[in-house]
Amino acid sequence: MKIAIIGGGYVGLVSGACLATFGASVTIVDRDPTRFAQLQSGHVPIYEPGLDALFTQEAKRGTLRFSADMETALAECEAVFIAVGTPTRRGSGHADLSYVYAVAHDIAKMASHSLLVVTKSTVPVGTGREVSRILRENRPDLTFHIASNPEFLREGNAIDDFMRPDRVIIGLDQQSPDKGAHARALLTELYHPLTTPHNRLTFMGLESAELTKYAANAFLAMKVTFANEMADLCEATGADIREVTHGMGQDPRIGPDFLTPGPGYGGSCFPKDTRALATSARKAGTPTQLIDITIAANEARKQRLADRILSLLDHPIHTKIIAVLGLTFKAHTDDMRDAPALSILPALHEAGARLQLFDPQGMDQARPLLPQDIPYADSALNATEGADVVLILTEWPLFKDLTPQQLSRTMKGRLVLDYRGIWEPTAWQEAGFTYHRLGRKNETIS
Ligand code: UDX
Repeated sequence: MKIAIIGGGYVGLVSGACLATFGASVTIVDRDPTRFAQLQSGHVPIYEPGLDALFTQEAKRGTLRFSADMETALAECEAVFIAVGTPTRRGSGHADLSYVYAVAHDIAKMASHSLLVVTKSTVPVGTGREVSRILRENRPDLTFHIASNPEFLREGNAIDDFMRPDRVIIGLDQQSPDKGAHARALLTELYHPLTTPHNRLTFMGLESAELTKYAANAFLAMKVTFANEMADLCEATGADIREVTHGMGQDPRIGPDFLTPGPGYGGSCFPKDTRALATSARKAGTPTQLIDITIAANEARKQRLADRILSLLDHPIHTKIIAVLGLTFKAHTDDMRDAPALSILPALHEAGARLQLFDPQGMDQARPLLPQDIPYADSALNATEGADVVLILTEWPLFKDLTPQQLSRTMKGRLVLDYRGIWEPTAWQEAGFTYHRLGRKNETIS
């Protein structure tokens, strides 16, 4: 089956490469000349483990191509996936759908035959219906089938998530059963490796599929935020968050995942999707209290942690050096979007603390987003040179290899703020460090 994917961003690139391995002949269309040139020259413009190898493999097999020409790509394909961005619209929580609708207009203008049009971008309820209206009204001479196929992949784990998903959500147009049946047949064929031995395809209505994506992300954001609040309570009461979440997670109704406390959730999805869901709910006349509170609690957490770090520094603060290990919103990505570091570090910097930063992937992305006079180190160990405090903001595995003996030699002070819980406290305490992790009283401030 020949398909076109419009948008060479995160979702478009990963989905395109993975669908090519499923047997489809995929053309990824990106009209941004810089991105197109990068893709054409074999350069993968995002950092995602394993994606490079997949690109090389599928390009060699001739199943993955890139184009800047949507018309030609559409002329050859049976299905077209819309995978463009839906950022938060400036000044409101709304998802900006202008890119999605512009693609719908382009498809209407350029299509030469009937097509299945699948929305893969994360879009609010009603968007698929609007895409359908645009296509129908502009090209009454053609039949368009519509589906919603939201993407649940996580950055850093994207290929595995795509190849071995818990579920593939597919929303069909139930107002038009014939068209729905056609879309169902095509998408079942496209995703055929995921139908046996376990069928991972879950079909539902268009609107339900659109909402499922937001509801799942908002629920996970809420779960993380709940764990963060419980971590605070553990610190105040002498309980240990690891024990509490272990005990909670054993209940299959709760599950153990997404209960690790941290400096607040970030990334390209949770912050954007929670805001968009809260805005959609308000617009629909059914405001969600839980999501609004989750958003506010996550924002407040980052400021509170900055205040807490400052409260741990002896005065004068401007003589204190904090080695910050990890800048990205989580490990295995170079993505700095809504990373907690972008709130916490400017607050520390403004209060006068001196920072020395290191991240194995995110420093180029971080530079334009953080105060310009903050220095970056060329290794984790070098970042700790002369530092009073070491602060872990991202759980990069390579930080785990640093030992108290190494840091005893490089650091001036003896304070460890392990806000991702990557180290075991005993070794640090035995080496004379004061060790703090989130959610445990006797290792954190009392
Ligand atoms: C998320 C969803 O998981 C994915 O299904 C969707 O398609 C896109 O959004 P992603 O943004 O890549 O994926 O990151 P994820 O691994 O879900 O983490 C989100 C944030 O929550 C990160 O900042 C992470 O550090 C934080 N988090 C996650 C915690 O603080 N604790 C946890 O236990 C889990």
